[in-house]
Amino acid sequence: MRRVYMDANATTPLLPEVVEAMRPFWIDHFGNASSIHLDGQRARAAVDHARETLAAFFHCREAEVVFNSGGTEGDNTAIFGLLRPGDHLVTTAIEHAAVLQPAQRIAERGIEVTFVPPLPSGLVAPQAIRGALRPHTRLLSVILANNETGVLQPVEEIGAIAREAGAYFHIDAVQGAGKVPIDVRRYGCHLLSISAHKLHGPKGVGALYVRRGTPLDPLMVGGSHERRRRAGTENVPGIVGLATAIEIAQHSLEDGAMQRLAVLRDRLEAGLLQIPGSGLNGASITGEPVPRVANTTNLWFDHVEGEALVIALDLKGVAVSGGSACHSGATEPSHVLMAMGLSKNRAQSSLRFSLLKAATEADVDYVLQVVPEAVERLRQISPVATAAPG
Ligand SMILES: Cc1ncc(COP(=O)(O)O)c(C=O)c1O
Repeated sequence: MRRVYMDANATTPLLPEVVEAMRPFWIDHFGNASSIHLDGQRARAAVDHARETLAAFFHCREAEVVFNSGGTEGDNTAIFGLLRPGDHLVTTAIEHAAVLQPAQRIAERGIEVTFVPPLPSGLVAPQAIRGALRPHTRLLSVILANNETGVLQPVEEIGAIAREAGAYFHIDAVQGAGKVPIDVRRYGCHLLSISAHKLHGPKGVGALYVRRGTPLDPLMVGGSHERRRRAGTENVPGIVGLATAIEIAQHSLEDGAMQRLAVLRDRLEAGLLQIPGSGLNGASITGEPVPRVANTTNLWFDHVEGEALVIALDLKGVAVSGGSACHSGATEPSHVLMAMGLSKNRAQSSLRFSLLKAATEADVDYVLQVVPEAVERLRQISPVATAAPG
């Protein structure tokens, strides 16, 4: 059966070039980058080269790049590494769990936290961030591209607010990197996290930009790796894979891959919106489009259980994600969609389609063929699965 993978925001496959770049560092050049002999020097040279690539990608100095295990670690490091009792954190209600959970944890430790809600469009208004500031606000942490809706947040304006307030600014750019150009100087941020597996690199490796002079306590202590900001023997093949994936992502950005993808995504979206009782999440109610990454669309299909639709589509060879997350065995509606003001029913009848860069017209055609059928069938067999949504 044909398989169409439209869950790129969950993860992406490694590109063959990335596998080839990594291969020697598992076997022939297996040295520890901290060793002084030739084997170690080879590994060190590869890490240094990867750091140059990341610095060019972020628009920062090489010394400001810290390799780590991915987005969750970067986000945790920013929150736990900067905040102390008595401080105040401003973040948003639509962050990934990798920010929300640390924020909730520090709130239990005497740090005040404000979760700024988004507008119904999924956009966080800079004025709302400004309104949440307190004299003791030490950190603002805002997602660049939301993983569920793809909505891009106005990080440059938020960066200017952080600067005026004298607060540090962290950006979770895990879903933005590779889809929009990254520029830490333009954003005015002190910290920015990315993860390799969202851009055709390996899982379990990422990087954190740390602006020079940012007083960040490391999460991991031990050896003096990464200028004492992240202890642990460097994952040399992973770091090489991350840098190779970044180089390729940068080229595709420059070659207009995202413009091509947006055309495909828009065609998919328009086709899916033909289904009666459907609608778009992450769109302006005034009709003004909100900025979004090119590969993501999130839609609701009334009177359909999203999870049932995910399974029905999987059986037809289409991989997508639902608008709910499984927490301790119970299906909870997405906190992002709920924060945007959707009813529980509508959040639970939502689906995220996130296209790979390599998506084709034929993929979109196939999805447009199977989704209406699956929605129709589910509505017939379980017409009261979701009550009339509000
Ligand atoms: C916005 C965002 N932040 C952080 C993460 C966590 O990244 P990782 O899987 O590398 O730990 C993800 C992963 O889904 C994400 O989408």
